[in-house]
Amino acid sequence: MSVLQDKKIVLGVTGCIAVYKAAELVRQLVKLGADVHVVMTESAREFMAPLTFQTLSGNPVITEMFKLYEERKIGHITMAQRGDIVVVAPATANIIGKAANGIADEILSTVLIATRKPVLFAPAMNEGMWEHPAVMRNVQMLKDLGRCFVEPGSGDLACGDSGRGRLADIADIVDEIELMLSPSDFTGTRALVTAGPTQEFIDPVRFISNPSSGKMGYALARALRHRGADVVLISGPTMLPVPRGVHTVHIGSAQEMAAAVDTHFPASDIIIKAAAVADYRPRVVSMHKVKKNDDAPRIDLERTTDILADLGNKKGKRLLVGFAAETQDVLANARGKLERKNLDLIVANDVTIMDGGFGSDMNKATLLLPGGETVDVPAMTKQDLAHRILDCLAGIKLKLRDIPDEPA
Ligand code: PMT
Repeated sequence: MSVLQDKKIVLGVTGCIAVYKAAELVRQLVKLGADVHVVMTESAREFMAPLTFQTLSGNPVITEMFKLYEERKIGHITMAQRGDIVVVAPATANIIGKAANGIADEILSTVLIATRKPVLFAPAMNEGMWEHPAVMRNVQMLKDLGRCFVEPGSGDLACGDSGRGRLADIADIVDEIELMLSPSDFTGTRALVTAGPTQEFIDPVRFISNPSSGKMGYALARALRHRGADVVLISGPTMLPVPRGVHTVHIGSAQEMAAAVDTHFPASDIIIKAAAVADYRPRVVSMHKVKKNDDAPRIDLERTTDILADLGNKKGKRLLVGFAAETQDVLANARGKLERKNLDLIVANDVTIMDGGFGSDMNKATLLLPGGETVDVPAMTKQDLAHRILDCLAGIKLKLRDIPDEPA
């Protein structure tokens, strides 16, 4: 289940050209299961009609201070109490100034004063306005009050200027909301995640690899960060954007992955190996492109390091999680890997299913624990599966905390 499933989000929309992007924000939040209630200022309504937001959110849009909501409740008080979070996107210099200085003279500024829920601002304005000392001071005042910000990005601005002040990417705003609404049960944990394929070069233009997209590992890195962990992600070549707030190390081959894991392993409490590491590489890499001729060339292969097995031998008190990508005897093969590699948990996935395995946004898995316990996880998004894996790990962490250390 998505972190945002059934969460009530009050979205304040203020007047600037980026209002149209707020419509996409509503669409994405609703897609993730959130119940979105939009509050629009008068100037926001100059840019877009409330009907757009009403249609996308499925809820009435609040525009007036003293109109009764749902026929008997006062709008600003209902909104202030209703949400799990209040998000203002786009947030103008005006609303930031009002919120920082306690001014409540219309519906949204009044919601912002009345609420006791977490508040997130996503500012959007001209660069000169954003950099103005009064705006900077107001932003700092709000941060000091515990309000959160998704900082604006750089690029072409609606006024024709170019610079800092564009509304942050919608994906980043959603990411920040997820972070603010996630449990923080991994706070203080240092996590190492591997993701994606490795590439084992035959010559400068050819390599042996596999179809891993990195989605599963990246989802785990994001979920860990949302739940409070400090995360290092070691990634093979993928097309995915680097997850926000995650220290990402890019590698190419299994050997490079092994070296990067070696560097970061000592400072990690939890290691999750979702990467699809090549088991074999060419014994010799040709310096130049192998020329085509009538005889098919023979490629002599050798084993790569089994990184996970190595970690299993030296893990100490760290929690070690592996994946098993299987096409037959899924559970038996996965349990063999769990035992041989001395893991605390293995995620068995059948990579032959349609909606799962390599490349898909979805996955279906069985989590296997050393005591013989298994947890079947039905098909769901990789992001949701990542949270299920973390739920299971949180349980293991708790159990380990209760076991006293052996006497030296
Ligand atoms: O990246 P996606 O497109 O989202 O796809 C996700 C996935 C299918 C790649 C992922 O869910 C998955 O199953 N990852 C593990 C793939 C794999 O290499 O499985 P394996 O059964 O061959 O390896 C078992 C474990 O040993 C894995 O944790 C692997 O990272 C590790 N290993 C394997 C070989 C090796 N030389 N070193 C290793 O550390």
